[in-house]
Amino acid sequence: MSERVIPLVDQRSSSLPVTVPAQAIPATGLLGDALGRPLRDLRISVTDRCNFRCNYCMPKSIFDKDYPYLPHSALLSFEEITRVAQVFAAHGVQKIRLTGGEPLLRKNIEILIEQLTALRTRDGQPMEITLTTNGSLLERKARDLKSAGLRRVTVSLDGLDDAVFRAMNDVDFPVADVLRGIDAAREAGLGPVKVNMVVKRGTNEDQILPMARFFKGSGVVLRFIEYMDVGATNGWRMDEVLPGSEVVQRIHQALPLVQLEPAAPGETAERWGYADGSGEIGVISSVTQAFCRDCNRARLSTEGRLYLCLFATHGHDLKPLVRGGASDEDLASAIGALWQRRDDRYSELRASMPPDRGVGARRIEMSYIGG
Ligand code: GTP
Ligand code: 5AD
Ligand code: SF4
Ligand code: SF4
Repeated sequence: MSERVIPLVDQRSSSLPVTVPAQAIPATGLLGDALGRPLRDLRISVTDRCNFRCNYCMPKSIFDKDYPYLPHSALLSFEEITRVAQVFAAHGVQKIRLTGGEPLLRKNIEILIEQLTALRTRDGQPMEITLTTNGSLLERKARDLKSAGLRRVTVSLDGLDDAVFRAMNDVDFPVADVLRGIDAAREAGLGPVKVNMVVKRGTNEDQILPMARFFKGSGVVLRFIEYMDVGATNGWRMDEVLPGSEVVQRIHQALPLVQLEPAAPGETAERWGYADGSGEIGVISSVTQAFCRDCNRARLSTEGRLYLCLFATHGHDLKPLVRGGASDEDLASAIGALWQRRDDRYSELRASMPPDRGVGARRIEMSYIGG
């Protein structure tokens, strides 16, 4: 009899309690982690569910009908999320990205967006609120998302060929529906729309050029992402990673490119522009060219755990504080203390990690903390 193992159940239960430090750490916006990195970007996962089963993220063999998703009572409410986000804003966060799973599956997500748009950055600017989606519900929802105050969207799309795309999402979802979602987002003013393509050698590498050609000149920023060893279920192998540099080379041969300056410090994507001025692409080479040095990203899970790195093995459980009557100052101190101790830089260390912490370690899934 074969026994099914669900490694991430263990991972989700392995959270660390959070305490309020004896000495207050007021939110000044000047917080630095152990490597001097500021806190500027908060990614909030609003559901651990998704209607796709991309093999590199939620393989069907694990995420089947018996998979124990979080019960509704475990999720932070919109009010709780907004309150935590406000404390992060006081600490210097300028950008919030809503993720999942698939964030558009969270009921009434527009209401959360409305609440978050009331937040201000430390210098009084509106918070930049963005969302990463698989695009399946975008055609229906784009206008309401815009009206709620969403600034822009990033859509995941791993190929243009319908057969390749259906195989990659593994639920037979047609590419045409995602393309209509992208159009709807642009029409609603959720631009510049970015499209993320995870490249797996041998699976969708033949889609690189068609994707580049399709989006060139459209105003959509296409980004190629190296397949990463996030989570513990995707059976990642280095030989399936197609380096970002090779993606650039392949495109450059057909459609000449010039390198562009980074738009913001700590950015994930290296930017390349078409030499004829018809737009830009990005490559996110987190495996072959780690960008931990400037990583200013914190992640809040659906149930209120703070993850200091995409490759973390433990989250820090903020929910007991949030639900237990802690003041905003206490929350700010607790978050401040965690950030001050942060020394994560997994992608830089991947190759030199001991086996129990390197590739294949029992890490949290991307469907749980989002991209
Ligand atoms: P914008 O450019 O502002 O839209 O945001 P972004 O570059 O942060 O983009 P996005 O959130 O779409 O991230 C793109 C992809 O980069 C994600 O899907 C991940 O695959 C990867 N990524 C994002 N943040 C990190 C990170 O902190 N570490 C690593 N290793 N990969 C990341
Ligand atoms: N490697 C790289 N990117 C991934 N994503 C999910 N899993 C992986 C992985 N293993 C990306 C998706 C989406 C975002 C949410 O994260 O393509 O763009
Ligand atoms: Fe869903 Fe995105 Fe994961 Fe695919 S990558 S299974 S669309 S959350
Ligand atoms: Fe940041 Fe961790 Fe990604 Fe490095 S691996 S960029 S520290 S989230």
